[in-house]
Order: sequence, then structure tokens, then C-alpha cells
Amino acid sequence: MSTPLGRPTALITGATAGLGASYAAHLAAAGHDLVIVARDGARLEETAERLRERHGVQVEVLAADLAQREQLAVVAARLGDAARPVDLLVNNAGYGLKQSLAVGQIELLEQHFDVLARAVLVLCNAAAKAMVARGRGRILNVGSIAALLAGGGHYAALKGYVLALTESLAKDLRGSGVSATVVLPGYVHTEFHVRAGMKGASGPSRAWLNADDVVTDSLRDTFAGRLVSVPSPQYRALAALLGVLPRSAVRAAWRLGSRKAPSNARTTSPATSPATSSPAPTARG
Ligand SMILES: NC(=O)c1ccc[n+]([C@@H]2O[C@H](COP(=O)([O-])OP(=O)(O)OC[C@H]3O[C@@H](n4cnc5c(N)ncnc54)[C@H](OP(=O)(O)O)[C@@H]3O)[C@@H](O)[C@H]2O)c1
Repeated sequence: MSTPLGRPTALITGATAGLGASYAAHLAAAGHDLVIVARDGARLEETAERLRERHGVQVEVLAADLAQREQLAVVAARLGDAARPVDLLVNNAGYGLKQSLAVGQIELLEQHFDVLARAVLVLCNAAAKAMVARGRGRILNVGSIAALLAGGGHYAALKGYVLALTESLAKDLRGSGVSATVVLPGYVHTEFHVRAGMKGASGPSRAWLNADDVVTDSLRDTFAGRLVSVPSPQYRALAALLGVLPRSAVRAAWRLGSRKAPSNARTTSPATSPATSSPAPTARG
């Protein structure tokens, strides 16, 4: 269940920036050894060094592009290594993509699918197998409030998959001692929007959350064994609203909020930009 030093181990994907960096800092501060995963090896090493110095924990670096099957398999194998058990998996790596589902480039959409959906499935399966064999463990999948938005483009479709996957995984894990949680954040101040070529923190300030708050809330819910975590009262209210609205009403709100014809350069999720004027579906990230 823990390292020879008696500490639990967490594996976090996308641990170099934004929410992932905050998960890494919080878990290290709470005494977890870490395995951190992202593509940029130099940034991973810097992150690892900082966390070792600050918190005195062991930090293993695993540079991997989760869109590449062989590299993903290495991360899955690390989760399955019985000699070095991982107690908590945080499936966090992800990004936004400005591609229309209708006329966008299929290679970019497939890559998006591989990172946001396929990698989550493969790593959940690898972690769950090892954790069930030990009779304990926790899995936290980072979804998005966009999962609740019918017609919210490829990003929303993939986050919808992450939500449904986690619900079914939790059912399969019942009684095993292993829990699965999905967190549905709204807009969070991270590198996400700039990387996706969107405007940064524009739009109403109350719509924006701090990464540390999202991480604190979702880790609390994860360790409590809750299935769904929606950080912040405003997004809990939105999630409740979207949960009771018929999907046809959500689709109608999208139609009001996006009047342009599809083009290659346009995002598949018009409201992925916080600057958009559509009311309910602006909660994106
Ligand atoms: N920010 C928001 O408003 C928001 C809202 C809801 C949900 N989310 C979700 O939160 C998660 C984290 O996003 P963030 O906002 O923290 O974004 P971020 O600041 O851009 O960080 C993304 C992280 O993912 C890693 N990553 C990206 N592509 C990868 C790949 N192919 N293989 C391995 N690692 C990869 C990045 O490192 P490298 O570039 O080095 O690979 C980086 O560490 C995502 O799943 C996102 O969908 C974000």
C-alpha cells in the first residue's frame, strides 16, 4: 500500500501545469510520494526537484505523450507494477481543441480522443486491476462541467465519456475497496485556454475558479469515496440546473449562443471561449 518509507503513492498525469501541478503540490504536502507524467521532460524534472526539496517526498518522472500507444503502455505498466504500488491515480492530462466535428481535421480529433478518452480508459483499467488485487485504492478522473452540455462539441463529448466511464467503473468496483471519482470543474485559471488559442481569463470573474480550490474540493471528495465532485457553489447550482433540464433545452441554448456556420478554424464547442454570450453553456473548460 505504500513505499518502504510508509508513504502512499499517487500517479498524476499532466502534472506540470494547472490542475495537475496543483494536485502534485497538494498530495506531496500531504505526504504522498509521486509519479508525475507529462510530455515535457525538462519541465517534469523541474517540477519533481521542487516538490522533493519542498516536501521531502520521492518523485518519479515519467515523460510520456498519452496520445502515443507505446508511451501510454509504459504508464499503464507502471500502474500495474505490484512491487511499487500506486494508491491514487489522477487522470488529469487534457487540452482544448479548435476543430469542427463536421469539417475539422480527423487526425487532430483522433489525437484529442486518444488523450482525453482512450488514455483515461487504459489507465483506469490498469490501475483498477492492480488496486482490486490489493483490495484498496482510489481513482480520480478530471472531467468538466462541459460533460453536462448537450451539443458542446468534441471536448464536451469526450468529457461526457469520462463522466459515464467513471459512473460505470464505480459500479464495477463496488465492494472491492477501490473507489472512482470524477470531478467536473468549470473555468479554472490554468494554461488550458491559452494553449487552446482561446482568450485567457475573460468573462465574469465569478465564473473563474482557482486550481487550488478545485484540487482541495476534489481530493476531499475522492478520499470520502464520492462518485461526482463539483467544486464551488456556483457550478454545483449549474450542474443541478443542467441535470434537471431536458437535453433538448440545453441544445436550444447552444443554438442561441452560436449562430456561425461550421468552419475548420472554429472550435467544436462555441462556448469554450469564456467571452461567449450564451447563458447556461458558458461553463466550459
Ligand atoms: N482549465 C479549465 O478551465 C478546466 C476546466 C474543466 C476541466 N479541465 C480539465 O482539467 C485537466 C487539466 O487541464 P488544465 O486546465 O490544468 O490545463 P493545463 O494547465 O494546460 O495543463 C495540462 C497538462 O496536461 C499535460 N498534457 C497535455 N497533453 C498531454 C499529452 N498528450 N500527454 C501527456 N500529458 C499531456 C500538459 O503537459 P505537457 O504539455 O508537458 O504534456 C500539462 O501538464 C484537463 O483534463 C482539462 O480538460 C480544465
